[in-house]
Amino acid sequence: MYNPMDELNPPTRLMLTPGPSCVDPRVYRALATPMVGHVDPWFTQFMGGVQEMMRDIFQTENEITFPVSGSGSGGIEAAVMNVLEPGDEAIVCVNGTFSERMAEIADRSGATIHRVSAPLGGVVDPDDVRKAGLGRKIKFIGLTHGETSTGVLTNLDPFRKVADELGALFIVDAVATLAGVPLDVDGERIDICFSGSQKAMSAPPGMAPITVSQSVEDVIRGRKTRVQTWYFDLTSTMNYWGRERTYHHTPPVSLIYAIHEAMRLVLEEGLQARWDRHLLNQTALVTGAEAMGLSMFVSNPAHRLPTVTAINIPVGIDGAKVRSRLLNEFQIEIAGGLGPIKTKIWRIGLMGYSCQRGNVLLLLDALERILLDEGLKLSLGAGIAAATSVYANTAFVPAGPQR
Ligand SMILES: Cc1ncc(COP(=O)(O)O)c(C=O)c1O
Repeated sequence: MYNPMDELNPPTRLMLTPGPSCVDPRVYRALATPMVGHVDPWFTQFMGGVQEMMRDIFQTENEITFPVSGSGSGGIEAAVMNVLEPGDEAIVCVNGTFSERMAEIADRSGATIHRVSAPLGGVVDPDDVRKAGLGRKIKFIGLTHGETSTGVLTNLDPFRKVADELGALFIVDAVATLAGVPLDVDGERIDICFSGSQKAMSAPPGMAPITVSQSVEDVIRGRKTRVQTWYFDLTSTMNYWGRERTYHHTPPVSLIYAIHEAMRLVLEEGLQARWDRHLLNQTALVTGAEAMGLSMFVSNPAHRLPTVTAINIPVGIDGAKVRSRLLNEFQIEIAGGLGPIKTKIWRIGLMGYSCQRGNVLLLLDALERILLDEGLKLSLGAGIAAATSVYANTAFVPAGPQR
């Protein structure tokens, strides 16, 4: 029984959800290092190192690159609110809960938001975006790189081309992809890109790395009206994370320590090796799950997000009961669906420190045993055997965690 006066003692869970992911012990140690003031000269210099590593991970030279104090949704708010003024028009590509969230946040700016939608489990057609923008002055095209609610990955290039044709900025939500899936902000000419600390970066939740191109900086500085949100107004936070280091709000110092250590881990591993690790473990998971007779929600393998896999819950199986058995009997947390597909799918995250061979095998074994017990016809061991063969047939040499 929980007693508020007892020393804190949360359970040790294996978090295989679409976030937060498990945290490397080095990041926990960083969280526990001594607090300093947010304008202490040591800290303001340290902030420069945080920004430098963040630029490397985003693959950008953008001066304005820093962690927004807020979760991934704060990243969305900062990205869209800073460029939109009342009367503007923008297009948001909607193929799930989080892309819809971008549209919903943008709606509140007083601008007109055109949603271009795709069925859940699919990607938006860039031609539909082009048609929606023809004859209009579009401020930006917003896209969610990895739609976590459905496990869909969208190829960015065609949307950048359409944005060029329409003279629009290109805003990308990389909450579920940064540090887990190939992403090159400068190479792909993304104007604003943001993420969340708790996913493939494997830091605790509460920070939203963001990077903003020079052309966006000009748009923001040239605004006719004030940004509709004070907290996420980049014109003022840019001064704290810019050369002046002028106070704007008190940032979460310990979380910045944590993200600093998490980024050191990313860069020590190397981006390519990290992307390869994510892809390999997801391939093993999908191969194992399919060998158990399960099917994927995203039917086109080219559209599957390496960090989050959506699996159809078999007919006759109570998806919530399976999740609670995984948690109670195996200490493994996975997620259900969101919105209209809430009871239709399980979502399994393999991100950052959670994304390891041992975790894939443990999950497949636990899932197989529970499903068998719940009456699903399958042969025990088929999932593990198939996943193991994926590992046996790769030349991949892990540079990051891969027990
Ligand atoms: C793609 C995407 N965007 C935005 C968010 C919102 O992030 P947060 O829950 O950290 O506010 C999430 C969260 O899962 C996400 O997956």
